[in-house]
Amino acid sequence: MAGDKVSIHGSWASRWVFILAATGSAVGLGSIWKFPYMTGVYGGGAFVLMFLLCIALLGLPVMLAETLIGRRSRQSPANALRELALDAAHSHKWSWAAFAGMITALLILSFYSVVGGWSLDYIVDLGRGDFQGIGAEQAGRYFADMVSDPWRLILWHTLFMLLSAWVIARGVVAGLERSLRIMMPLLFVLLLILLGYSLTTGYFMAGVHFMFNLDTSRLLDGLLPAMGHAFFSLSVGVGSILIYGAYMPKSSSIAGTVVAVALLDTFVSLLAGLALFPIVFSAGLNASEGPGLMFVTLPLAFGNVAFGQLMGVVFFVLVAVAAWSSAISLLEPMVAYLVERTKVSRLWVTAALAFICWFVGLGTVFSFNIWKEAKFFVSEGGAFQLYQWGATGGLDLFGVIDFFTSRIMLPLGALTFVVFASWVMGREAVRDELAMRNASLFAVTFFLMRYVAPLGILIVFAAQLLK
Ligand code: PHE
Repeated sequence: MAGDKVSIHGSWASRWVFILAATGSAVGLGSIWKFPYMTGVYGGGAFVLMFLLCIALLGLPVMLAETLIGRRSRQSPANALRELALDAAHSHKWSWAAFAGMITALLILSFYSVVGGWSLDYIVDLGRGDFQGIGAEQAGRYFADMVSDPWRLILWHTLFMLLSAWVIARGVVAGLERSLRIMMPLLFVLLLILLGYSLTTGYFMAGVHFMFNLDTSRLLDGLLPAMGHAFFSLSVGVGSILIYGAYMPKSSSIAGTVVAVALLDTFVSLLAGLALFPIVFSAGLNASEGPGLMFVTLPLAFGNVAFGQLMGVVFFVLVAVAAWSSAISLLEPMVAYLVERTKVSRLWVTAALAFICWFVGLGTVFSFNIWKEAKFFVSEGGAFQLYQWGATGGLDLFGVIDFFTSRIMLPLGALTFVVFASWVMGREAVRDELAMRNASLFAVTFFLMRYVAPLGILIVFAAQLLK
């Protein structure tokens, strides 16, 4: 039976290691860097509400679907879909969706690595004491100076990519566990300390208000971005969770595990927002500042508290680790596929793919400096006005890649996986793989997978198009 197979890439030692790895994948720059700045750009509470709804109603069912597809087939996404489709007497062409997912993952990794590089840069800057006693304006200038220097960005981008490729080349199962066991809990503790700091700013309630006060006029604005980000944040829609599911022991319960991972991820996002916004408001910064938000805000906090220098270094080390464990999960599906399909060794496959991502990543690097003025899809009179899709004005190259991956490809990938599990594999296969003891809970879960998630995704697309 399909469920008793073992992956050729190895298996997690236990359910806990899966939780650790999947949390490592989910919790990353998405929670700490992207969630706060998107909340800022899309108007606070309205975005947060949409994000939470999307996590619960769309993200969770998709995450379940991906995990169970992976565990049932024990293979990389493309081979998993092909084999399970054939088993269920459906077309092998389902595997094309997995290819799209893998390419999306590589595109995401291209910019992810650049931003991961920023956090490496900040480790050194904080360690040197660059931010001691710094003011808001200087912090802003510091970030602007950093991104305006392409060589500096390339250096850290290269280092970040090498660090990720190194673990992948050795095999994920062996490489991840040891580091994550210590780093993940520590990241949590430091976020709590930062939260403690933001409580002392006198603007904590302003932050809470911004994050949870609902401005209904902005609900629709942030809908597609929130859905895309929910998938991004949970690492679903590209096959990352699928491949981690493939390494999951048969005895573990999927549903409980997946819910735990999603809760942890959401919790970290909210925590990051609650830690950041009070600092933003107390320093008079602009909440809708965009991708630089975290990199301008946190140095202010660390530069102005006792032990800030040390805490800052530790914090950015942890951000880098969180980013690194997500980067690994972005590369793994494609690496696993090529290892299954070709005779090339894991080392060479990893090296080649990492190089491609690195190269594409140069586009993101240059978006912040030499190609800064190059804007795509500027809204004036264009035939296809992307800004209607939730993009704010013209997009630079980084914006285009982010937009295309998060708002189009991730939702489409998510749709395919959830439809595949609930319609192609069908109720019995899903029941067998989820092995939930409570029959009504299973009924609700399956209903979410079969109807709510697919329709929800389509409705969000439709709402965006008709806006
Ligand atoms: N979930 C990761 C984060 O939030 C990013 C990611 C997206 C990882 C898609 C894998 C797949 O940082």
